[in-house]
Amino acid sequence: MNHTARPARIAVLASGRGSNLQCLLDGIATGQLQAEIVGVFSDKPAALALQKVPSERRWARLPRDFESREAFDLALGDALDACAPDWIICAGYMRILGTDLVQRFNGRLVNIHPSLLPLYKGLHTHARALAAGEAEHGASVHFVVPELDAGAVIAQARVPVLAGDSPESLAARVLQVEHPLLLASVQLLLSSRLTEQGGVIQLDGHSLFSPLRLDSAGTLA
Ligand code: GRF
Repeated sequence: MNHTARPARIAVLASGRGSNLQCLLDGIATGQLQAEIVGVFSDKPAALALQKVPSERRWARLPRDFESREAFDLALGDALDACAPDWIICAGYMRILGTDLVQRFNGRLVNIHPSLLPLYKGLHTHARALAAGEAEHGASVHFVVPELDAGAVIAQARVPVLAGDSPESLAARVLQVEHPLLLASVQLLLSSRLTEQGGVIQLDGHSLFSPLRLDSAGTLA
């Protein structure tokens, strides 16, 4: 995909407060991202994330108003298609995406997950990392595949686990690196330097055998 001619069209899926969405909006406002947020989509009509974009760019439906997961996903997929996104970023979207939806947008769907994948897929990652006595924790940006949190990992950011950490204090430390991690990862995606084929990520034509790492300057190496 060549996004040099126009801003990339980014759709964001979010269920909560939307600090990762805000980071993308800030990146656009400061010129770090040549993109526009064409829609924010949620399974929680009260999600604060929705408030960050004008009402005409919001889509929110309650899953319980649909007869099945497939019906919800179909409506979500149609709404996504209607805004023709180049990329769909799951940023705190807490609902599992069904296989049909993932396949419909295969290769354009990316998620930020608060753990050093493949460790701690799913929920309660901070509490589980603490319970396991990890010395390090962090966040990962990865392509979405039908299996939960199992797609190819583009990049990770690490933080230390400190003595006395609670799940909340650890989550707050991870969140601080999530924002630069997401921004740098989306910049890379928009640059067209990075592709994914069969679970392998290629950067500048070379296979990536381990995820890129965010350094203290906020760049990926
Ligand atoms: C982040 O920790 C994200 O990694 C996780 O949910 C949280 C969402 O935070 N999946 P926010 O809504 O972007 O502030």
